Amino acid sequence: MAFLGLGKQSKTVGLDIGSGLIKLAVIDHSAGRPVLTQVSVTPVLADAIVEGEIMDPGVVADAIRGLFVSAGVKQKKVAVAVGGRDVIVKKIQVDRMSEADAFDVVRWEAQQYVPFDIEGVELDFQVLDPDGEGLQMDVLLVAAKRELVETKMALLGDAGLDAQVVDVDAFALHNAFELNYPAAMRGVAALINIGHEVTNVNVVQDGVPLLTRDLSIGTRKFREDLQRERGLSSEAADGLLQGYERSPDLDPYVQNRGEEIAVGVERAAAFLQTASRDSATIARVFCCGGGARIPGLTDVMSRRLRMPVEVANPIQALEVKNGAFGPLSVDEVAPLLMQVVGLALRRA
Ligand SMILES: Nc1ncnc2c1ncn2[C@@H]1O[C@H](COP(=O)(O)OP(=O)(O)OP(=O)(O)O)[C@@H](O)[C@H]1O
Ligand SMILES: [Mg+2]
Repeated sequence: MAFLGLGKQSKTVGLDIGSGLIKLAVIDHSAGRPVLTQVSVTPVLADAIVEGEIMDPGVVADAIRGLFVSAGVKQKKVAVAVGGRDVIVKKIQVDRMSEADAFDVVRWEAQQYVPFDIEGVELDFQVLDPDGEGLQMDVLLVAAKRELVETKMALLGDAGLDAQVVDVDAFALHNAFELNYPAAMRGVAALINIGHEVTNVNVVQDGVPLLTRDLSIGTRKFREDLQRERGLSSEAADGLLQGYERSPDLDPYVQNRGEEIAVGVERAAAFLQTASRDSATIARVFCCGGGARIPGLTDVMSRRLRMPVEVANPIQALEVKNGAFGPLSVDEVAPLLMQVVGLALRRA
């Protein structure tokens, strides 16, 4: 599902504009299977993007432009995503009918779930059980404020780029997750993207992205904890957060914030219990994003949630061309690439 059609390129350039790091991934689809051919990242200046909102479009556009130049990527058509409060993903039931007929009905139904003016909304949907025989069918509805899509397109324009597809971030994550963890597509799993500012909690049931929630926690908060309470410089704090060892300086914050994230997962789980017909229980948790690398964090979450929590790898089952990562350390950067890989997986 997407808000814009795909073009004809054999390569898809995914662009994930995060508040901490802008990530670019190129996937070549010409061989009939996806091959990751290039990955590049660039940091975003502090506070240029706050809680998903682009405060300084000029700075961000320059950073994107610079990233494309230094990576030597010439293709202007890119796949991007929108997310956050103004995107709604919801599984609804409507009377069974052909997909062509369903559009108006879904649009009508959507009005009760979309807390903003339906006229200003980009809408898409997918019938989840097209071969089902019941009188009703399950439809996954996705709605985004049009303004959000327009702002993203304007930013791309400023960077000299053009949108090939505007996806929803939860779906992009899901895309990459599905390719790499097919076994997790049975039953209920949570995929948690712990970014610089925001943690997205996504619950997937039998391969369908069921629920998405954002928590205001990210690596930035951990860094601020360490600066404020341990007097560390931001470089020293980042060193600990991006390292491989636990440390007494770091452990208390990992404990607190890890539990905070786990509580977010528990809330999502509780919501599912009440909302779904076939009481769904989360069985496994996967983490990605820069925060997933924080030493000890997945252990804290696992202990609290009493279930396995692991760091998800977006290239676990993806073919990677030699040298695709350039000078980047694959182990260090891979967990941050789930969303951008999901975007680049969308093929023309
Ligand atoms: N190898 C790495 N290179 C750069 N940053 C890293 C690395 N490993 C961990 N980090 C941390 O992860 C953060 C970026 O993570 P990520 O790319 O998932 O966030 P984001 O997408 O920019 O943020 P958000 O989704 O909240 O807008 C950095 O700000 C840094 O704190
Ligand atoms: Mg992110």
